[in-house]
Amino acid sequence: MNQRTLTPYEINHLQKHGFSKPLDSIGEQPVEYITGHAEFCGLDFLVNPSVLIPRLESEKIVHFAVDYINRQNLAHPAVADIGTGSGCLGLSVAAYLIKQNTPYTIYLSDISALAIKLAKENAGRILRSPENLFFQESNLLENYPHIKFDIILANLPYIPSNNIATLPESVKDFEPVSALDGGPGGTQTINRLLTQIPQYLSDRGIVIIEIDDTHDLNSFSFPQKLQASIERDLFDVPRFLIINQKE
Ligand SMILES: C[S@@+](CC[C@H](N)C(=O)[O-])C[C@H]1O[C@@H](n2cnc3c(N)ncnc32)[C@H](O)[C@@H]1O
Repeated sequence: MNQRTLTPYEINHLQKHGFSKPLDSIGEQPVEYITGHAEFCGLDFLVNPSVLIPRLESEKIVHFAVDYINRQNLAHPAVADIGTGSGCLGLSVAAYLIKQNTPYTIYLSDISALAIKLAKENAGRILRSPENLFFQESNLLENYPHIKFDIILANLPYIPSNNIATLPESVKDFEPVSALDGGPGGTQTINRLLTQIPQYLSDRGIVIIEIDDTHDLNSFSFPQKLQASIERDLFDVPRFLIINQKE
């Protein structure tokens, strides 16, 4: 493998986790898979090659969710994190709500049993009191109980299949393709979720879904009862579908 020049962030990350000597032959392997750690919303998540490394831009999903809970004065919000991976979205929401003493119920689900195992481990390490968290192996909402959620978060695979080969080696050769490949056009999994949403969203509820920057509202099929808009991420790129029930 070719040796690469590490960025200051990568050197710092390796040192912080006890890797002080130069590493041989790491090729394009992400440093987070070497140390087994990734920071998200200021929290230290365990990661391994069965889950995506949480991305900085996804933190905005957590901030949207907590702001919405506070603006709507939701006293005990029910939250679903679909495609939870390391658990970064749902567990970060839980961490913020614990800090402000807001009780919650949070479901974290993934189609991958290995992801659920790691998300559970992260809950035990990160949260003071990992209560009212329910972990569910589930294809989208299939295995969910029939309850109405105030907040549905989803960062599902959304890269168009044809674009996978063009991703950086550090992504396409190391991160799980099942976390990346959104089928033709990249909208297949998200469109399937959209058909399930009306059954599971409370009247005042909101859905926040991360999308590819090549997508716009016309890329998706929204059930009649729902209305949607697109928000930009911290790099000013269109990145999130914000959905609620029509009035
Ligand atoms: C892009 S990763 C996001 C992981 C994490 N939420 C994050 O923000 O870093 C997508 C996740 O969705 C899961 N996934 C893929 N298809 C799914 C499906 N049909 N139902 C539930 N989860 C799915 C993958 O296993 C993967 O963990």
